[in-house]
Amino acid sequence: MSNRLPVDRVVDDSGEASWRQSPGGLVTALEPVMRASGGAWVGWVGQPDLEIEPFDENGIRIIPVPLSDSDLELYYEGFSNDTLWPLYHDVIAQPGYHRVWWERYAVVNRRFAEAAAAVSEPGATVWVQDYQLQLVPAMLRELRPDLLIGFFNHIPFPAYGIFSQLPWRTQIIEGLLGADVVGFQRVADAGNFSRAVRRLRGYPTRTPYIEVPGMGDQPARRVIAKAFPISIDVAGFEELAARPEVQERARQIRHDLGDPATVMLGVDRLDYTKGITHRLKAYGELLAEGRLSVEDVTLVQIATPSRERVESYRQLRDEIELTVGRINGDYGTISHQAISYLHHGFPREEMAAMYLAADVLLVTALRDGMNLVAKEYVAARADEDGVLILSEFTGASDELRAALLINPHDIDGVKDAIVRAIEMPRHDRRKRMRSLRKRVAENDVSHWSNSFLTTLRESRGTQTPFG
Ligand code: G6P
Repeated sequence: MSNRLPVDRVVDDSGEASWRQSPGGLVTALEPVMRASGGAWVGWVGQPDLEIEPFDENGIRIIPVPLSDSDLELYYEGFSNDTLWPLYHDVIAQPGYHRVWWERYAVVNRRFAEAAAAVSEPGATVWVQDYQLQLVPAMLRELRPDLLIGFFNHIPFPAYGIFSQLPWRTQIIEGLLGADVVGFQRVADAGNFSRAVRRLRGYPTRTPYIEVPGMGDQPARRVIAKAFPISIDVAGFEELAARPEVQERARQIRHDLGDPATVMLGVDRLDYTKGITHRLKAYGELLAEGRLSVEDVTLVQIATPSRERVESYRQLRDEIELTVGRINGDYGTISHQAISYLHHGFPREEMAAMYLAADVLLVTALRDGMNLVAKEYVAARADEDGVLILSEFTGASDELRAALLINPHDIDGVKDAIVRAIEMPRHDRRKRMRSLRKRVAENDVSHWSNSFLTTLRESRGTQTPFG
């Protein structure tokens, strides 16, 4: 179960609607599991007010949950993306605390729980994904105590000092504790959750276990809270990047950019957590100081449109576009642009070609659950070239220690890392990239889903209270 279904509805020129698999990594990871188990996927179709009957797509049963325009405004744009999103990303933007948003979040979570309860066979496994659905585990357990319930949080879980701002913090904790296994990206996130449980409920914890006492007719249960860092389909990405047409496209991209000595790349959803303005500031200062010149270096910034009805996202877009315009106006020439800014998404093949064309990938997120772009870049670089500049505030930095790690708030540090990446000798680049590739290869996305599901299955055997 996830807020968005793994398929997008596309309507062609003749008005005919069809479904296309969404490009996300989650789908790739779970598709084989779902097919093998004859599973169903419960989620929203991606458009308001669309009532669609369950259907089969690519061997997976799709169970659409309808959301009205006002559900989208209150549950999705409001509570999910204007309360939880900024709060869980360490309050980079100010979260809004509105009771009507919270109430609708609970209503919509119940709708999802009921949809899953209705289609699950006795004793089935239900895996709930992400922060939009944190109340579902407890709601589902109440409706269907026979189910095995897992939850995975794709975004960070904040420290208690921040989490405790949430007026509904106890309800969220109780919602999550309905699961048998609560998974997080980083060990630190799992620790933050366990601390919140101790502070708010006083339940005993002994990593990775949380003991939930029996209440009424509910028996005592042992919940596992643990890190399962997500990854990408490494082999699939490598295969894509090895295709001759993708490699040819990479050469074409460099050519179209004027064959500069260095191509730098940023790939992000247009989101304030991604540190795009910090990156632009560092790059602009390097150009202003003459440490870089547009004759030698260019930056391609892909900013995929996201959550465009939320005010903070609209403001950020304006700020980014103003800054890009200024930098291009100040430093660009007729033949050389400082920044190629692209406000749209690209198919996977084109992304693989971009990664191959880029000498440096810039990941400057202020906070990020994982950051799969960093892993995709590494997977694409079978040539063992390219330098990854990676923010310490991403989950990926726990694993990708051979990157040039930066603190994105430290603009001078980011500038130095950019210059260092550009000047790095080939043998040093190869050494780092080899080490990064080893780490990424060890933890493929199928490893992620298998280890979560194995822990979930085995959790049945640990449902005895602490001795
Ligand atoms: C993040 C979240 C996902 C979400 C995605 C796109 O990766 O963890 O749950 O689906 O952003 O955001 P959107 O609001 O468009 O679904």
